Amino acid sequence: MRIHHHSFDAVIVGAGGAGLRAAIEAAGECRLAVITKLYPTRSHTGAAQGGMCAALANVEEDSWEWHTFDTVKGGDYLVDQSAAQVMCREAIDAVIELEHYGLPFNRTPDGEIDQRRFGGHTRNHGEAPVRRACYSADRTGHMILQTLYQQCVKRDVNFFNEFQVLDVTFSEGRVAGCVAYEQATGDLHVFATKAILFASGGFGKMFKVSSNAHTLTGDGPGLLYRRGIPMEDMEFFQFHPTGIYKLGILLSEAARGEGGILRNVDNERFMERYAPTVKDLAPRDMVSRAILTEIKEGRGIGPNKDYVHLDLTHLPPEQIDAKLPDISEFVRTYMGLEPKTQGIPIQPTAHYAMGGIPTNIDGEVVVDAEGTVFPGLYAAGECACVSVHGANRLGTNSLLDIVVFGKRGGRSMAQFVKTADHAPLPADASDDVRERIERIFASTGTEKAAEIRSELQDHMMDKASVFRTEESLSEMVTVLDDLKERVERVGIDDKGEVFNFDITEALELGYLVDLAEAVVVSARARTESRGAHWRDDHPIRDDANWMKHTMVTRQPDGTVTLDYKPVDGDLYVPMERKY
Ligand code: FUM
Repeated sequence: MRIHHHSFDAVIVGAGGAGLRAAIEAAGECRLAVITKLYPTRSHTGAAQGGMCAALANVEEDSWEWHTFDTVKGGDYLVDQSAAQVMCREAIDAVIELEHYGLPFNRTPDGEIDQRRFGGHTRNHGEAPVRRACYSADRTGHMILQTLYQQCVKRDVNFFNEFQVLDVTFSEGRVAGCVAYEQATGDLHVFATKAILFASGGFGKMFKVSSNAHTLTGDGPGLLYRRGIPMEDMEFFQFHPTGIYKLGILLSEAARGEGGILRNVDNERFMERYAPTVKDLAPRDMVSRAILTEIKEGRGIGPNKDYVHLDLTHLPPEQIDAKLPDISEFVRTYMGLEPKTQGIPIQPTAHYAMGGIPTNIDGEVVVDAEGTVFPGLYAAGECACVSVHGANRLGTNSLLDIVVFGKRGGRSMAQFVKTADHAPLPADASDDVRERIERIFASTGTEKAAEIRSELQDHMMDKASVFRTEESLSEMVTVLDDLKERVERVGIDDKGEVFNFDITEALELGYLVDLAEAVVVSARARTESRGAHWRDDHPIRDDANWMKHTMVTRQPDGTVTLDYKPVDGDLYVPMERKY
């Protein structure tokens, strides 16, 4: 294989919102490269729809402290409270900064940034829903991505587009470099660098029904996990209540923020029974469980009674056109239905990883319960776990997270590389990746990556999604043992060098299976129900024993071990989570 060598002060992996915001901060401060497996404006941030929250109080009384409280309560008290305070306080400036960058937010009649309701965001500690989400129709992520990319272009950021980072090199206990595969040529590129910030997104493709794009395979956390970096709170995976039936494509919570209602086969607004105060705008974990409970108890719709309706038919058609244009078009295109006059079949869809690479509030990766920083290693966005989302993220806190912690991570990395020197890069830095690729090319194995991935997704959906038990999770462990062996026998049909997605999908599958194991092992150990982690066999939140973060580590021999670290902050004392 052809191997190329580069040297930079700092590298950012991923060009979604977090990576781009970090790049804006670091560009001009150091010799920076952004390596991204997708062309930047195709990053998954562009699929985020409904909004980015900040207590601007433009349309209703609000405060960042109320926002913090909602974030902590929404996260079922597993949120690190000082991190949440940072995020909610800095949210206001983050929105204004985006406005000044030129982001076309929707406006109130008097020209202020408009705000809409979203699940779990309330006035005065739960009294009633509050309008806190700043938005750009139902294309807020798309607008953020374009806006941040423009700012990067303005700053001449050096992008390596369609380069897939597959490994990281540590030496002398710090970051020394990373190895990337160039999709257009099949060449390998070794980057010597003092620091790396991972902003590579989530890993929702481990579930069958998912709002995540095909590319969200957890390469960043996956390759770090293989190098011994622990992952935090992996058992908490969010299912968004309103995915298009069977396809999983996101229909924004903004639809309910604008007044949309969930209805069962009896046309009942069933959320009134589950969350009498905020109803359809309860946090996602509660709404997803409510939908699946309706289905389980026979009140689903359709021939198999396996979906419910999102009903927008009572909304003024001009409101749907103005505020929800994209999702209306998705419903027409993918379902052949008219959302202004027909109920929309929906089901919960795997949407967001609350867990990931453990970091502090400056994006530095921490590797133990004491908060020990791994020198030169940073993470931000969905692949990271700060932890501001705890056991369940509130809608619109994700676009906020990427800009606040992307900025903080980029800034602290740029500071770090000013005084750090390069760790020696071993001559064999690319050997592991090269051998992996050559082995798959040479393999005569008959296993196909797509088939194994599809089995993984089916089983994860069935055994480790919204509802879990010891029985389902232990079955999943057995399935994973089998899948891990089969991954070793994957063979590919395409032996070419140019845009060979057979090889990249085979490599991605390895990370996805490893991370699925981290999810399942962490979930099996947590014998309580909290946020998105619901155990039918342990349906009570157990603060006495489980008010702690999980740290899961893959040992060099491939075994998986668990450790725990305390939750930070006691400003908001855990209460029963009523809405
Ligand atoms: O429903 C949505 O528009 C998604 C927002 C989010 O995940 O924050």
